[in-house]
Amino acid sequence: MATANDKRQAPNDAATGLINGVLNWVHDRAPGVLPAYKKHMSEYFAPKNFNVWYYFGSLAMLVLVNQIVTGIFLTMHFKPSAAEAFASVEYIMRDVEWGWLIRYMHSTGASLFFIVVYLHMFRGLMYGSYQKPRELVWVLGMLIYLVLMAEAFMGYVLPWGQMSFWGAKVIISLFGAIPVIGNGLTEWIMGDYLPGDATLGRFFALHVIALPLVLLLLVVLHLGALHEVGSNNPDGVDIKYGPKGNRWSPTAPTDGIPFHPYYTMKDLFGVGFFLTLAAFIIFFTPAFGGWFLEHDNFTEANRLVTPEHIKPVWYYTPYYAMLRVIPNKLGGVIVMFAAIAILFAVPWLDKSKVRSHRYRGPITKAMLALLVVSFVWLGKIGAGPGTDPVETIIGRVLTFLYFAFFITMPFWTRIDRTKPVPERVTTHD
Ligand code: HEM
Repeated sequence: MATANDKRQAPNDAATGLINGVLNWVHDRAPGVLPAYKKHMSEYFAPKNFNVWYYFGSLAMLVLVNQIVTGIFLTMHFKPSAAEAFASVEYIMRDVEWGWLIRYMHSTGASLFFIVVYLHMFRGLMYGSYQKPRELVWVLGMLIYLVLMAEAFMGYVLPWGQMSFWGAKVIISLFGAIPVIGNGLTEWIMGDYLPGDATLGRFFALHVIALPLVLLLLVVLHLGALHEVGSNNPDGVDIKYGPKGNRWSPTAPTDGIPFHPYYTMKDLFGVGFFLTLAAFIIFFTPAFGGWFLEHDNFTEANRLVTPEHIKPVWYYTPYYAMLRVIPNKLGGVIVMFAAIAILFAVPWLDKSKVRSHRYRGPITKAMLALLVVSFVWLGKIGAGPGTDPVETIIGRVLTFLYFAFFITMPFWTRIDRTKPVPERVTTHD
């Protein structure tokens, strides 16, 4: 609610006077802005014990902005047609001023986005951030993850390199495994019998406008949902409301600190660190040895020449491995989609009374480690040629372990030992 106190007080110097004047002018005409700023920034009281794992939310927003801004500049020169797309990307790389930098910031940015989002999701799993009352935050996060995967997939098709074409062909053809409607659906998605002009045009439209809009909307909802219930923290205990509030407000939680300026400043440190690392990768190894941009994608798409190994970018390879190690095509497709879908259910599969792994027993820690090992190892298998029969068997075992984590979660979260949870959040200072 806007109050008379929201008005800025008398200025001490000309610059402050001008700023206050502008703010008061806006406030008189849009009295809802300041309360919204207070609710989400200066009076959003976040737990005071955030650690490094809490950098990744703001970093994900930073990378999202980077993708949108660099994407706008790429769109100015990119030609969305099968005849011209590859050459227009070459043109961007060679002739457009700083075009190479914009393109690498975007292509490397996609991989950095997934690194940040995977770490962000893992933080949620470690600290039980999806548990009541934050189920909606998690579900919205999962929707973001799904849309992000579709967004990155379509983006990868645009430069119309060999892997763009063959990757699109393999992945879209998966829909052909669906009984009855499969073949029709594949043709409908491609707009052709093979990826072609129609495919490129629609993927371009979805990649540059439709999905980014959905992503932005989902991120706003994700943060809105979080700010309704408040942030979790590494201890997984709620910040308590003592009789005196805190030094900023008598009605605020005792262990909460204003998001702005405290966490905006802290997040800026994370941004500096992250940008240094990102710059190093973008300037020295933008394709990251073929992991961020595959070598085959520097050759124009040719429907008569199949690359030796068709594989997706690293962030899909765990799921791609699951698809390949299942002998039946439809079975593989079902397992692959189920592997993503099951993540939605985590808030209801976890039956532990304690949120954070800090106060849970050895089973939780072992299971989390198992999940990471199976996901990363599957990622390595999915990135390989998929011809080694021993690796296929290992892949099956890992797929089994991946699903075991989730399916047996209601059981092991109940029987695992828990330690006494502190009354208030703990800090190390
Ligand atoms: C574009 C992608 C995303 C953006 C920009 C984003 C942004 C954020 C931000 C800024 C926060 C608050 C700061 C923080 O806790 O780090 C947050 C919290 C959270 N996010 Fe995301 N997020 C994204 C994707 C995801 C995904 C994919 C998931 C999981 C499926 C997820 C789950 C959560 C959860 C559970 C919290 C609350 C954490 C806590 O309070 O401990 N987010 N997100």
